[in-house]
Amino acid sequence: MATCISHSPAETEALGETWGRAAQSGLVIGLCGDLGAGKTQLVKGLARGLGITARVHSPTFALVNIYAGGRLTLFHLDLYRLETREQIRAAGLEEYLEPTGVTVVEWAERWFSEMRSEKGQAIGKTSEPRTLLRWVRFETLSEIERRITYEDISA
Ligand SMILES: Nc1ncnc2c1ncn2[C@@H]1O[C@H](COP(=O)(O)OP(=O)(O)O)[C@@H](O)[C@H]1O
Ligand SMILES: [Mg+2]
Repeated sequence: MATCISHSPAETEALGETWGRAAQSGLVIGLCGDLGAGKTQLVKGLARGLGITARVHSPTFALVNIYAGGRLTLFHLDLYRLETREQIRAAGLEEYLEPTGVTVVEWAERWFSEMRSEKGQAIGKTSEPRTLLRWVRFETLSEIERRITYEDISA
């Protein structure tokens, strides 16, 4: 578990960019935190770190935005509009837990237990556990400060 304090939108983006540069195919990143906490800001950096030049915005009308053209494809999910587990289940998003590329999920807490256990099972089936779930929590400390806590779960 690691914690960092971001003092600006640019700092949050820079953290995402670092992750994007280091990311391997199969990585799933779950982002938890309130509206305006900086989840999309981090995804912007993630895309940049992957070498994606398209403008990133939250998929408000679709559930998923797919950005190709970088080193790895980025699947950007936002579960804001899916309020219940049943709605999430019915949306059939499981395939994004084993991406050929990188998946990032805003409002991942709405999918929390299922995501962790399904991803855990998926990893268990893979002989070489190169897949990974990174769990990230954003807390708003002030207008410009965010506490970002993250932990990697590999099984
Ligand atoms: N340290 C920070 N990190 C990220 N965003 C910040 C920070 N300080 C201020 N902000 C502002 O907070 C807002 C975050 O919006 P956004 O990333 O869309 O949030 P979310 O996707 O979590 O709802 C932006 O307007 C951004 O400029
Ligand atoms: Mg957002």
